[in-house]
Amino acid sequence: MEVPVRDIGPGTVAVITGAASGMGLAFARRFAAAGASVVLADVEGGALGRAVDELTAAGHDAIGVPTDVSDSAAVDALAARTLDRYGAVHVLMNNAGVEGYLDGPVWQATDRDWGWTLGVNLMGVVHGIRTFVPILLAQGAPAHIVNTASMTALVRGRNLYGVSKHAVLALTEALADQLTAQRAPIGVSVLVPGTIATNLFHGSRNRPAALRNDGALMSSAGEDLRAQFHARLAEGMPPEEVAGIVLDAIRTDRFYVLTDAEWDDRIRQRTEDILTRRPR
Ligand SMILES: NC(=O)c1ccc[n+]([C@@H]2O[C@H](COP(=O)([O-])OP(=O)(O)OC[C@H]3O[C@@H](n4cnc5c(N)ncnc54)[C@H](O)[C@@H]3O)[C@@H](O)[C@H]2O)c1
Repeated sequence: MEVPVRDIGPGTVAVITGAASGMGLAFARRFAAAGASVVLADVEGGALGRAVDELTAAGHDAIGVPTDVSDSAAVDALAARTLDRYGAVHVLMNNAGVEGYLDGPVWQATDRDWGWTLGVNLMGVVHGIRTFVPILLAQGAPAHIVNTASMTALVRGRNLYGVSKHAVLALTEALADQLTAQRAPIGVSVLVPGTIATNLFHGSRNRPAALRNDGALMSSAGEDLRAQFHARLAEGMPPEEVAGIVLDAIRTDRFYVLTDAEWDDRIRQRTEDILTRRPR
């Protein structure tokens, strides 16, 4: 069945989570430049305010809604604020994410480490679809949802982040197939970024106090690893380039949206390991 394609331009209302930094901010800038009204949601209030100020000063239509996506009531409030202001929503970018627990082997991760990592990366997407899909279905107009996974969803798992992104990929596949089965006019894409120059490995800055272990943000081993990974990301693709890829994917209704081919060998290796029943 053909799903009507959602263009992004004047009249489009786009909700973007994690919009105060990195790819989310690049999506907001790009969609606003195309004429869309953008609702920026983020847990980091100061950066969110600056992002909205930048867009409105440039003459774009944008509002900011402080939102912790791991809190389902906050995501409900985001939807209510969006409908209150614009009366509709057409594009939902479930993009907020954190690097999560990187401080040791998986068996040492505490419930708080799991709660933080899965709470933002997986439950944030769960809350986004649970709140917004019924709204999009009731509208009956063409709409599009993009969930941000990662290349780590397609390669062998290494840490809690990979666990969360494998789950986002599976969730998005289920969502797409179920909407298609209902003949809903809602396109779905899963964004699969490679290495993008963002602040992802500074994600602990927003780790809630209640989900810290003994009040500490991270271990010193985790701090070193994050610094290394941050330096690697800085060499990566500019988020503006990803925004262009996503805009095109929405307009052409593509499902798997890989940003580049750099991880192809690792994806192929994992798939071959599975199909050849390779021993560990
Ligand atoms: N940068 C990469 O190389 C890369 C690769 C693959 C996937 N991703 C994914 O891309 C998405 C965007 O991340 P980014 O790389 O732009 O990093 P970023 O840190 O620059 O931006 C992430 C934004 O999410 C916000 N955020 C964190 N916790 C939140 C919460 N509980 N509620 C609402 N907002 C919250 C942060 O404040 C930040 O503004 C994430 O889902 C990330 O996992 C990034």
